[in-house]
Amino acid sequence: MRTTLDSLDMAYTDQGQGLPALVFVHGFPLSRGAWQKQVEALAPSYRVIAPDLRGLGESQGPTGNMAGATSMARYAEDLALLIRSLGLGPVTLAGHSMGGYVALAFAERFPELLCGLVLVATRAGADTPEGAAKRRATATKVLAEGTAAVIEDMASKMLAASNHDAAMAQQVRALMAGATPQGLASALLGMADRPDATPRLAQIKVPTLVITGADDTLIPPSESELLAKGIRGAELEIIPGAGHLVAFEQPEAFNRHLTAWLAQAGRPAASALALGDPK
Ligand code: MLT
Repeated sequence: MRTTLDSLDMAYTDQGQGLPALVFVHGFPLSRGAWQKQVEALAPSYRVIAPDLRGLGESQGPTGNMAGATSMARYAEDLALLIRSLGLGPVTLAGHSMGGYVALAFAERFPELLCGLVLVATRAGADTPEGAAKRRATATKVLAEGTAAVIEDMASKMLAASNHDAAMAQQVRALMAGATPQGLASALLGMADRPDATPRLAQIKVPTLVITGADDTLIPPSESELLAKGIRGAELEIIPGAGHLVAFEQPEAFNRHLTAWLAQAGRPAASALALGDPK
């Protein structure tokens, strides 16, 4: 499906019924297809929304060679516009990696639209100065030379080193195919500029699941442990035999943990969450 939000032409998947809706946000340099195995599994029971972030997948992005940063806050605002335009909210928001940075920005800005958080293979911390400088250099390179090198580099790090499934590796590359140089550069600059979300974790009042792959080398599981420690009542699941793209690589285990968490008896109702009740 497509919609125009404040002049952004956004592509998104919208399947199933039932509230609260689940909104899945992909990572860099991926697209909404990264959640395809969750959409298929969960749409029979939930309304499931999965957008392409601006400049990635099939969503329109910045144009021209001087693409500026897209902040995590800007992506979060796009999500809020989409959620409101669909008449949804509060929603359960799941974000993978960069999508997790966006989910944390969303939790800070739009608590009234949030009733649950799923943080997948992500982290709260900002880039180190060296990491940020490297991203800015990559952004310049991608604008000059195109997307191929970044896509190849990221694709080679998405799955566990023990995973030799060539067909899956091809599918991962296909998930990155829609990204434009400007979209990638803007996301890289936005990630380089993102603030440290660690001090805000204690303010998150909604039930939270932190989930990652044991063999993630891009964002090690220790980052998920820090997230789970920082968010009151958060649950942590570390899935063996999975790398960075854990939900795509080990969908059965991932979906089992997610559905068990969603169905947990005693989860407070959205109305109680809005009042900031502890979990
Ligand atoms: C992602 O998968 O979104 C990226 O690895 C995040 C990052 O580079 O920090």
